[in-house]
Amino acid sequence: MMFDSHCHLNDDALYPRIDEVIVDAKKTGVAKFLVVGYNKASSELAVKIAEKYEECYAAIGFHPCDIFDISEEEFQETLKLASHKKVVAIGEIGLDYHWEKEQARRDLQKEYFIRQIEFANEHHLPITIHNRESNEDCLKILKEHKPLHGGVMHCYSGSVEMLKDILDLGLMISLGGPVTFTNAKTPKEVAEAVPLEKLLIETDCPYLTPHPHRGEKNEPKYICLVSEEIARLKDISKKHVDQVTYENTCRLFNIDE
Ligand code: NI
Repeated sequence: MMFDSHCHLNDDALYPRIDEVIVDAKKTGVAKFLVVGYNKASSELAVKIAEKYEECYAAIGFHPCDIFDISEEEFQETLKLASHKKVVAIGEIGLDYHWEKEQARRDLQKEYFIRQIEFANEHHLPITIHNRESNEDCLKILKEHKPLHGGVMHCYSGSVEMLKDILDLGLMISLGGPVTFTNAKTPKEVAEAVPLEKLLIETDCPYLTPHPHRGEKNEPKYICLVSEEIARLKDISKKHVDQVTYENTCRLFNIDE
């Protein structure tokens, strides 16, 4: 059994065919899905999906690229969704310096990241973290505003050296499609180095489609390619990777197995 710990079934690319997407994923052994929001509408839809499908859970929050031009009311109203019984995390939240080059706008990303970590701490929820080309500031914030109920570096793209800092903060690492890319040296090194009990797997669908389906829309059914590659790199069975990452995800998000 596998747990897709970060997917966007709430995205326009997948939502119109969600029934089929879930059925296809279940055929490959995916038993649970965390549907992750990135703004108000996608967070609301994640909750709606989690209400309808027993195997789906929701994370709600504002992605660093979606914090611009939002009102305080919109922000607060979205966070109110956290009291729903199937909301198991705040996310995805974090920093994205790939898409944001202006210092003032990066500062605003930091502000919303911190506010959402503090909200998660007050509401006893773990967080799911988006960090793109912002390692230094991301680590600094996580050290100064420690997530008290755990969290995961979603689609971890950092180095093996940075891994230690992340694990010291009590956070988990999640790997997705990039670990399967033929030219992906660092994610493969990370997969080898990360202790299995600290690892989650994800698709981040409809993005980051694993090899050999790159160029197609990603779906949870392709997560088996991620787990196969991790198994190969760690020289253990796929079944073992599936089982342990499934248990890790349930434990992090306080979900009954
Ligand atoms: Ni995502």
